[in-house]
Amino acid sequence: MTTENQILVIFGASGDLTKRKLLPALYELFEQKMLPEKFAILGVSRTKYTDYQFRDKMHSSIIDYGKHGIDEVSRIKKFVQNVYYQPIDTNSPEAYAEVKNRLKTLTDELGIKSNFIYYLSTPPSLYGTIPQYLAEHGLNKQNDGWKRLIVEKPFGYDLESALELNKTLLSDWEEDQIYRIDHYLGKETVQNLLVTRFSNGIFEPLWNRNYVHHVEVTGAESIGVENRGGYYEGSGALRDMIQNHLLQVVSLIAMEPPSSIDSMAIRNETLKVFQSLRRIKEDEVKKVTIRGQYTSSKINGEKVLGYREEKGVDPDSRTETYAAIKFYIDNWRWGGVPFYVRTGKRLPTRVSEVVIHFKPTPHYLFSQKEVCESCNQLVLRIHPDEGILIKFGMKVPGAGFKVKNVNMDFHYSDLSNIRLPSAYERLLLDCMQGDATLFARGDAVIEAWKFLAPVQNVWEHDPAMPVYGYPAGTWGPENADELIQEKEMTWRYPCKNLTGDGLYCEL
Ligand code: BG6
Repeated sequence: MTTENQILVIFGASGDLTKRKLLPALYELFEQKMLPEKFAILGVSRTKYTDYQFRDKMHSSIIDYGKHGIDEVSRIKKFVQNVYYQPIDTNSPEAYAEVKNRLKTLTDELGIKSNFIYYLSTPPSLYGTIPQYLAEHGLNKQNDGWKRLIVEKPFGYDLESALELNKTLLSDWEEDQIYRIDHYLGKETVQNLLVTRFSNGIFEPLWNRNYVHHVEVTGAESIGVENRGGYYEGSGALRDMIQNHLLQVVSLIAMEPPSSIDSMAIRNETLKVFQSLRRIKEDEVKKVTIRGQYTSSKINGEKVLGYREEKGVDPDSRTETYAAIKFYIDNWRWGGVPFYVRTGKRLPTRVSEVVIHFKPTPHYLFSQKEVCESCNQLVLRIHPDEGILIKFGMKVPGAGFKVKNVNMDFHYSDLSNIRLPSAYERLLLDCMQGDATLFARGDAVIEAWKFLAPVQNVWEHDPAMPVYGYPAGTWGPENADELIQEKEMTWRYPCKNLTGDGLYCEL
């Protein structure tokens, strides 16, 4: 694919995302020679910096967050020559005339068409406003070059606000100009879900209700809310991780083979998954969801704050830092197969993975004690330690027929000379090339909100819906196992709780 000459305009340029993720990712693209020949970055934000001050800041961010050594300083200096800055009050419609003038000057200087990406890395309250003011100044018009809009998550706060935001955006922009970013889709191993499924003949025949017992998706984090208490209070685990990242993963796991590897074909198939998610009735919510909040504890001997003691958090908060949900996908492939999705902060380790649990053999030939309900598992590790693990029964050498569960394990790290690009590198480049495959489409985002609406409703308004405490460093509320009701089945615990005796994770 070709990457045309263009300008990337970052709104919210003085914020955290720009320095931690966007600029380091853009520098990597520069290093890999993947940026177009003529390219500029225009940072836009309220803070009053000059171009030079902003370049200095971005230079330091690339060193700090891109983990580059001092030997790269001259390359980074060269890269930041492409960075410019325009301070404006983003809430004032008139101020966008300054952005327009600046863009005109830059396109003239570079001698390029007006191909612009506008990246909204701002508080969500501006996701409707900025595109609207850009449009008022004609900065959405595609007559002299294309215009694209990248919208960060969260796309809405609930179904109503997401519908409203979609409506606002679509009044001035075409759907194919809007790139709703979900950084999980930019992860190499999430994309590999498609390749594992559709480039191998061995998995796909088993990938259905006849052979799959249940599917488990985990997004666990060991960190707490850190300095994001204020944001997290208005979000919680369901909105922060499940509505977007983890349901997107589910859609790739569950989708039908697309007719081709193009954006429309893939996104049409993932949409069907979202549409097939069985709606949860409000009176079922207590039975099929669990929410929890981490409490203070000791991790490896060190005291750790509980969520309610974190900065920016209400001491009586009922915001969940752990969420687990059981649901079904009502279609021919998945009819009757339960999907279990969980996420949490302050769990024992950072791990994102999908586990496909296969059904047991119909008749056990060997000693009953040695077998279990779902011994055969395919574990797709998204991060860390990206790779694929297959678990199966093998004969223990020696007398009789003792069966032991063993692992066949592939690690990306075993491939020499392979660099896993960051999610933002991949997604920025895709947008620069006009490829929306790995971006969420409006209709799918709305379906995901529809699916979660009854859960949100009950969680927010029913005082009888418990928020279970769980000590920081453990795998969440103990009764989360009750969601997976069947005999001897639990979630996969890749490592033990960290509290108490101070055990470390062994993945
Ligand atoms: C973000 C959430 O979207 O994803 C964070 O807002 C979360 O709360 C992060 O920590 C997890 O991303 P990753 O790539 O570290 O799994």
